[in-house]
Amino acid sequence: MRHLLAIDDVAEEFESIIDWAIAFKHDSDVAPDFKPFDGLSIGSIYEKPSTRTRVSFEVGINKLGGHPLTLLKGDIQLGKSETVGDTAQVLSRYLAGITYRCFGHADVVQLAEHSTVPVINALSDKHHPCQAAADLMTIKEKFDDLGSVKIAYVGDGNNVLHDLMLGAAIVGSDITWATPEGYEPDEDIVTRALELAEKSGSTLTGTNDPVEAVTDANVVYTDVFVSMGEEGLADKIGDFDGFQINDELVSHADDEYLFMHCLPAHRGDEVTDSVMDSENSIVFDQAENRMWAQISLLSFLISDAAWETYAEFLELG
Ligand code: CP
Ligand code: NVA
Repeated sequence: MRHLLAIDDVAEEFESIIDWAIAFKHDSDVAPDFKPFDGLSIGSIYEKPSTRTRVSFEVGINKLGGHPLTLLKGDIQLGKSETVGDTAQVLSRYLAGITYRCFGHADVVQLAEHSTVPVINALSDKHHPCQAAADLMTIKEKFDDLGSVKIAYVGDGNNVLHDLMLGAAIVGSDITWATPEGYEPDEDIVTRALELAEKSGSTLTGTNDPVEAVTDANVVYTDVFVSMGEEGLADKIGDFDGFQINDELVSHADDEYLFMHCLPAHRGDEVTDSVMDSENSIVFDQAENRMWAQISLLSFLISDAAWETYAEFLELG
């Protein structure tokens, strides 16, 4: 049994997971009859709000023939009268898999430790692996050869950057991140990414200069400056002067650059309307791909039969 707490938990199989997702998305002949999750229920616990993750998991599980249960923290005993560990043991008796969006990453680690079914991190303060799966899937759809793509991430060194960096390092894309001083990504993540990059040949660079990051980039990526759970730190936005993705900044990127954002976007803060709404913006393709990437991840983690049957059909090996 495997859990997905960070995207490097599936490092070896990551490109196959992306290929499977792209193939499934475009295979309208077989996909409608493919219901390998018939009779299975998947529970999704949310401690924080969600639009994309919640809807894409519910619809994706339905597409596989399964039954999604959304468990909002205010409605269940978790955090009130029951521990994460006990919750994991109880839910494991009913469910074939559990997704969990939490504040502290240690909570999803604990859930996984006590669960006897696969646990998928649906965003913690440290990681957002489902996002990275959709991001690299989207980049592969657009560029085909992930090894020749240069990604620039400009903004906060947060959960989204952590898994984007790990994902890029796994598939061999180059990534440069620019953050203000004091907002760099966690050092343990950079160390893990550098180890992966040694195998894949990708180049990883950190800077405090947004222009350096964006110069000649094929993909320009940003996320909110203030994440969920940081509401008390709203003032930090003042430290991000010069880190907004706007027409001037993207003028340094490759002429055919693509703009990405995990969403929700705070228009006018980390990105202008002119970039979000430009022809270069692929943010809604990216949002759609959350569902296809998660269908692939769920199949890989929860149903060997589903994964292998479809992989064989697609000759994915
Ligand atoms: N990108 C993302 O995880 O969006 P939600 O918060 O809406 O799920
Ligand atoms: N970094 C953001 C991502 C939202 C999808 C957050 O954690 O709030």
